This record gives sequence, C-alpha cells and structure tokens, in this order.
Amino acid sequence: MKILGIETSCDDTCAAIIEVELNKKTGERVPFDFNEDSFKLLSNVISSQIKVHKKYGGVFPSLAKREHQKNLAPVIAKAIKAGKIKSDKKKGIPEKIKQKEKELKDIFTKDDGFLKSVLSFLKKTNKPQIDALAVTIGPGLEPSLWQGINFARALSLWWDLPIIPINHIEGHILANFITDRKTLPKKLDDLFPAICLVASGGHTQLVLMEEIGNYRTLGESRDDAAGECLDKTARILGLSYPGGPAIAESAKKYSENSARVRPLRNGITVKLPRPMIFSKNYDFSFSGLKTAVLYEFRKREAKTQKSKEYIQAMAYEIQKSIIDTLTYKTIKAANLFQAKSIIMGGGVTANEELKKRFLEEATKLDPRPLFLSPAENLSTDNAAMVCIAALFNLEEATSWKNLQADANLRIK
Ligand code: KG4
Ligand code: ZN
Repeated sequence: MKILGIETSCDDTCAAIIEVELNKKTGERVPFDFNEDSFKLLSNVISSQIKVHKKYGGVFPSLAKREHQKNLAPVIAKAIKAGKIKSDKKKGIPEKIKQKEKELKDIFTKDDGFLKSVLSFLKKTNKPQIDALAVTIGPGLEPSLWQGINFARALSLWWDLPIIPINHIEGHILANFITDRKTLPKKLDDLFPAICLVASGGHTQLVLMEEIGNYRTLGESRDDAAGECLDKTARILGLSYPGGPAIAESAKKYSENSARVRPLRNGITVKLPRPMIFSKNYDFSFSGLKTAVLYEFRKREAKTQKSKEYIQAMAYEIQKSIIDTLTYKTIKAANLFQAKSIIMGGGVTANEELKKRFLEEATKLDPRPLFLSPAENLSTDNAAMVCIAALFNLEEATSWKNLQADANLRIK
C-alpha cells in the first residue's frame, strides 16, 4: 500500500510518499509490523518559502497561500518522480470528466487561477499507483491549510482515492518513528506513557501520550509560540529569519568566544526573565520574553546595539531562557507521570543545545525515560510526518467531500 502525504499548514509546501506492508492479522491497533522495517519512505520533498517571508521576519499568510498554490503541483510531481511511482495504465483523463470538472469548480470557487493550474496538472499526470492520500487539516494558518486540502481533494476526486485527515501536532510527534526505529523498544507500548513536547513557530504544547492515538494536552503557550519568540527577537537583534537557527549560531559564538563572561567587556550584564517557569500549570508564555528583549535592547546606545558581543550575549540569553522553561516544565511532567519516554517534535526541537539539555536532565530521572527527537530534516515541517501519521490513522480515511481545515484543531 502506498500513501501520498501533503503538508501546507504554515510556510513549507511538502509532499512525501510512504509504502507499507499491511499486517494480515485484523483488529490490530498498529495495522503493520512496526518493528520489522515494513514501511519505507519513498520520497520526501520540501519547498521552503524562507526567501519570501524573510523580509517580514515571519510568515505573511497571504503570501504563503500564493506560494503554496504555485508550488503544490511541482512538489507533488517531484515526490511521485523521486518515489519512482509507476502510473496506472489508465490515462490521466478519468471517466465522467465533465462531471468531475464541474465538481472541481466547486472546490476552487473564487480561485480561478489555482483551478487552472490544478486542472493542467491533472490532465498531464497519469494516475500514479498509490492507494490513498493524506493531508494536514490543522492546526495551522487557515489560508495555508486550505491550499493543501483543496489540492488533495482535487486529486481524490480525479483519481478516486480516499483521504486520511492528519493532525499536524500528531504528525510532529510521530515523525520520531520514521528514522528512530532502531532506538525504539521492541514493543511500542514500552514507550508509554510518554511526555511529548511540540515546539515550533506556531505551537508550544506539552502532551501526555498514553498510546498512539490517545493524547491529553497538559499545557500550551498562552501567547507566542517558542519559535515565534525566536523569530521576533532575532528580528529585534537584526539577525536573519528564521530566528531559531540564527539565534543558535550567534549564541554558540558567545559561549565559545567569551566563555560566558559577565558582565560583558563594556560593563553590561544581560539578564532576561523565564516567564511562567515556576507556575503551577504546564502552560507557557513567550510574549513577555519578547517584550523584555525589546526593552533591554531599546535602553542601549546604538553602539552597543550594533556590537557583536552584545548581540551574541542576547542571543545566548534568549535561547537559554527558552531552553530553561521548556526543559523545566517537560521534566516536571515526565517525573509526575512517570513517563517511559520523552518525545520531541517541531522546528525548535532541532536545536542542539535544547537536545543536549534534555538528555542531561532526563538521565537524572528515575525511572530514566527514553529520549526521542526527530532527525533534523524531520523536526521542521515536512510531509513524511503526514505519511507516518496516516499509517496510524488508516481507519479515518474519508471522502474528499468531508474534508475541512480547522486552524485550531486539538490533539486527542
Ligand atoms: O515546525 P516548524 O518548521 O513550523 C511550524 O509548524 O511552525 O518550525 C519552525 C520554527 C521557526 O520558528 C524556527 O525559528 C524554529 O522552528 N527553528 C529553530 C531551529 N530550527 C528551526 N529553533 C531553534 N533552533 C533551531 N535549530
Ligand atoms: Zn509544524
């Protein structure tokens, strides 16, 4: 069985294809032999919009929508080609074409330009040998989500394929299962209960996972997400977008060069708050950190604001504040729920210092949980995570007519 996954919840246009051998035994929660290399990622294509959003220092929703519309057809074509997927002998033009063209118009109302390009793709692409589609339906930016959903609906209508709707947060969590199969326990159940930290540009959530498909959100950011805070504070400091990697690079120079000298050579001490770190709940707040950065920066003279030493010290302290908060709350939850594993996901968890800290802290816990973080190219948004999530949600397959974007979709 082959599944084509599509992801457009934010600013990356992604498509991937996974192949799986279904388990013949019926009634299994995992419908395939998870530990026996029974699934293979055939392709994983990402078209990043970083260049487009760079000058705004964050994602500009109407531009993201336009870019998704432009990129979806080539990205999907590339995923089919890279996956070496053969086409069905039937030509690309389906039966009942007039009826289907009419239905397509209903999918793309008020979007003539996109309809035209989707139709041109459909007419020149023979039906590939895939069995189902999967697409992210939320949470995310609504205009972005709809582009991937509508493209998937068009493919489903044209090629008569079911669609599996995917929750983006579950995708980030399950991305760990793509590459880490060797480090996973023989029985997947030995991972649970797990505490999952999903931290990205759009979300910061702490989730208790009792088993695959059974989740409870323990806490989340009340305002800005951790990645959003990194992006915005990087902009204040004049660092590039996306802020996470830029701040990480600058922070690294600070710890290498000045061996964390305080105060700095110009007599300045940089100290930022750790908002909500000791609050009784598992919620986060990062907008206060952003405001603190802004005030700290504004009170300095132009000469200081431009000095490398000051910018690197600020980057170090911003990153440390975020790492301190994320680690403290996640470890606290892991301890309380006696977690057998800590599972990370989302762009911010690509951060090397964050991973190092988690490993250090996790070893202090008794019992010591297994620590999982996705390979770097699977931390940030991708469609491989949509594909793996689809394998655990096969029973959710539905008709294109039932698909809706839900910008605030919860994980359950
Ligand atoms: O998961 P993702 O690609 O998209 C969303 O779902 O939002 O995450 C993007 C976020 C951005 O805010 C970016 O600054 C941050 O992840 N990020 C990082 C790193 N790489 C990306 N943050 C810290 N360290 C990194 N190495
Ligand atoms: Zn994401």
